[in-house]
Amino acid sequence: MDAVSARGLVKDYGKFRAVNGISFVVKKGEIFGLLGPNGAGKTTTIKMLTTLLQPTSGNATVAGFDIRKQQNEVRKSIGIVFQDPSLDDDLTGRENLEFHAILYKIDKETRNKKIAEVLKLVELDDKADVLVRNYSGGMKRRLEIGRGLIHEPHILFLDEPTIGLDPQTRRHIWDYIRKLNTVGNTTLILTTHYIEEADYLCNRVAFVDHGKIVALDTPKALKNKLGGDVISVKISKGIETVERYLKGVRWIKTLSKHEDFLDLTVEEGEKRIPEIIMLSEKHGATIESVSLHKPSLEDVFIHYTGKTIREEAASALDTMRAMRNRWNRR
Ligand SMILES: Nc1ncnc2c1ncn2[C@@H]1O[C@H](COP(=O)(O)OP(=O)(O)O)[C@@H](O)[C@H]1O
Ligand SMILES: [Mg+2]
Repeated sequence: MDAVSARGLVKDYGKFRAVNGISFVVKKGEIFGLLGPNGAGKTTTIKMLTTLLQPTSGNATVAGFDIRKQQNEVRKSIGIVFQDPSLDDDLTGRENLEFHAILYKIDKETRNKKIAEVLKLVELDDKADVLVRNYSGGMKRRLEIGRGLIHEPHILFLDEPTIGLDPQTRRHIWDYIRKLNTVGNTTLILTTHYIEEADYLCNRVAFVDHGKIVALDTPKALKNKLGGDVISVKISKGIETVERYLKGVRWIKTLSKHEDFLDLTVEEGEKRIPEIIMLSEKHGATIESVSLHKPSLEDVFIHYTGKTIREEAASALDTMRAMRNRWNRR
């Protein structure tokens, strides 16, 4: 039995289609990631899978249960760590966990045992009786993850588990997530807009853009699909002409434009740089810079979506596209 099986999930908010036909399978024991920019539809997808939102169409099973018809069974099988903090600041760490355990109707004896266990796992046992308002951001996140585990779910959903945390704390949380997976044997489904997070943690990653999955595979396979080296050329003038010309060049495996950059994947990149500069200048381009690197998950994302995942860049570009579309429709 698969941990999650989603088939054609769609969610409309009024006239706006936030999730546009998403299908994927998560195997038991996997760490599976939905990676995409802000507004891609990740949270909406998680909310449907965790029965917090009813899909407009499509369906899914979670732990073998139907998210439309067996909501209680689904809820008992899963834990959720929300994107937005949802702890009670006026309670201690332990009290927050107790409150949650009572909601799940866990009897007192098991409760105390489980709480002690979870506090140890997320290394908050020495801070258990401190008010949460005095916790750091990282401690709060750890407590939330711990809370998601109190009722021993087989599947844990984590929506942007490290959003807003500093890089060091983020690493720390990543280690917990891995530990849950290896020691606790929990299947993990997480969303993120941090490329490194998906790359580091996930066995398989689905790229989500505008409510759709545009690619899905292991991080390694996704990177291998591009192959070779990525040459990134920043062009301040004449980028369209060069793009058109380079599209016809045989030894260029992939070509994508984002803002002022042309990214090309080629074999033996360092040898091709002089040729690319020469060809670009011959076609009237002004080159600002050239760089070479091995494909990262970011490159693959650019390849599939024509944009970087960084929220500022992505949202600015999206706004621009929306404005252009509106303009064109006049
Ligand atoms: N309750 C809502 N009503 C209307 N639009 C919404 C609502 N929730 C989310 N959206 C919109 O749906 C899109 C997807 O949102 P979300 O699933 O939160 O994306 P992500 O988690 O990938 O950032 C966004 O454009 C967002 O503005
Ligand atoms: Mg979100």
